[in-house]
Amino acid sequence: MAQSEDLSRRDLARIAGAAGAAIAGAKLATGPAILKVRAATEQVKYGMIGTGSRGAYLLKHLTSVDNGHCTALCDLNQTALDEAAVTIGTNPKKYLDYRELLADKDVDAVLIAVPLYRHFPITKDALQAGKQVFCEKSLVFKPEEVHALRTLASEHSKQTLQVGLQRRYSHYYQAVKDMIDKGMLGNVTHIHAQWHRNPGWTMKEGGKSNPKNWRLFREYSGGLTAELGSHQIDVAEWFFGSRPDFVMGLGGLDTWKDGRDINDNIQLIYQFPGGRKLTYSAITTNAHLPLFGSARPEFGEVIMGTAGAVEITVGDGQKTMPTALWYKEATPTTVTAGHEKAEPTKAGATFALAGPTKGIPIYLPENEVNWEKDSFLDRESKLGRRWLYSKGVIVPEETRNPVETELESFFNDAKTGARPKADVEIGLADSTTVILSNLAMDENRRVYFSEIDKMGLGSSSPASPSGAAAVTKRA
Ligand SMILES: NC(=O)c1ccc[n+]([C@@H]2O[C@H](COP(=O)([O-])OP(=O)(O)OC[C@H]3O[C@@H](n4cnc5c(N)ncnc54)[C@H](O)[C@@H]3O)[C@@H](O)[C@H]2O)c1
Repeated sequence: MAQSEDLSRRDLARIAGAAGAAIAGAKLATGPAILKVRAATEQVKYGMIGTGSRGAYLLKHLTSVDNGHCTALCDLNQTALDEAAVTIGTNPKKYLDYRELLADKDVDAVLIAVPLYRHFPITKDALQAGKQVFCEKSLVFKPEEVHALRTLASEHSKQTLQVGLQRRYSHYYQAVKDMIDKGMLGNVTHIHAQWHRNPGWTMKEGGKSNPKNWRLFREYSGGLTAELGSHQIDVAEWFFGSRPDFVMGLGGLDTWKDGRDINDNIQLIYQFPGGRKLTYSAITTNAHLPLFGSARPEFGEVIMGTAGAVEITVGDGQKTMPTALWYKEATPTTVTAGHEKAEPTKAGATFALAGPTKGIPIYLPENEVNWEKDSFLDRESKLGRRWLYSKGVIVPEETRNPVETELESFFNDAKTGARPKADVEIGLADSTTVILSNLAMDENRRVYFSEIDKMGLGSSSPASPSGAAAVTKRA
């Protein structure tokens, strides 16, 4: 029996006709969280620093997470602070100065959702104040902060430090990583990722002096690479199981002549060990996504192996949730020591060598009918949906937003001391790749991952309160 058939028999819980595959989810949690009322002693008391757009989004989802209890909020902006308190609804204390929140004994953990250039100083102070820390991506901004946070984290190794890379907490992404590890896609040689928006970020009144425009200026922001690419670069590092060897790229500021100084379109190529590659594109002039039959806009990744491909996206967490489609190769190739084992095709031919294949929906345990536990209505609705999946009308989706899963997991890890799936090393590798990608575009050269070892050394103050201490030409 061919290896791929053998694997599918062993690894797939069930094949539903020709149209669906269920991934046995030994490692995956099943079903949406049912909000139980937890005893106060079981809940982690947390404060949030930065209640702007992301902070507000997190708080909205935190109302569905029962193992944390919000005791304090902080933002420089009183309106954002007041609105956030209403959203979470736990009557939290409100602070304008984050150092006062960090001094609050009723706060055991902090969630940091401030602009990128403020991540490191606040994370540093939070660790030194003895708090468990969840910091949004991209974890750090400058090369010197990569080194400083690594040292700091090892000095505070008993405290949880998690980065907001929520794809790591998605059951779909975990299932696809499992498929890769089990060889179901063959030798995974390429990943393509895109995040295309139209119009992308627009400049608000006041230009650089308006704090709301921080993303558009290099002094505060890593641009598209940090804000969007960081998520998908991390997916490639996770799925390939390594850091890239080097990155090269072309960025341009070609459309948005509004005073911003970040690129408004970027194209990057990363080489990973063994010649494997991630190609990455982020543009701000068109939002078309040529995956999922174009049913989803903007962002997603294609994972390409010698035996198959997977299209995957996390969804926007509001109208759409994570999903994935699997495409088997018509003639899976196994390459062993340079010898190909596959049906030979005529060399030099210019016709298409492969026929069309149909995407196979991937079912998680939570998409499966549970004949013992599901209520009659749940069962009927799942069966109805399965019929629509099999007809290709809709694709199965994860039932819970991975942002909620990552937050729940953070509180669990803060309680138990377990290592987060998106831990400090993952966050630092991701930030390093972001920093080096921007350097590659700015200096128009191949930048090696190992260059980080020599960058940002000898900085007088990576933890400068202004957060703007830059020792490199550009990060
Ligand atoms: N994981 C994700 O998918 C995701 C999505 C969006 C944003 N983010 C990240 O979240 C972070 C925040 O982004 P945003 O869109 O919310 O920005 P934002 O500008 O909307 O909000 C930032 C907030 O931080 C506040 N702030 C700034 N400095 C502060 C300080 N010293 N003390 C207290 N508050 C301070 C600002 O007043 C503002 O309200 C960024 O790092 C961003 O990359 C992550």
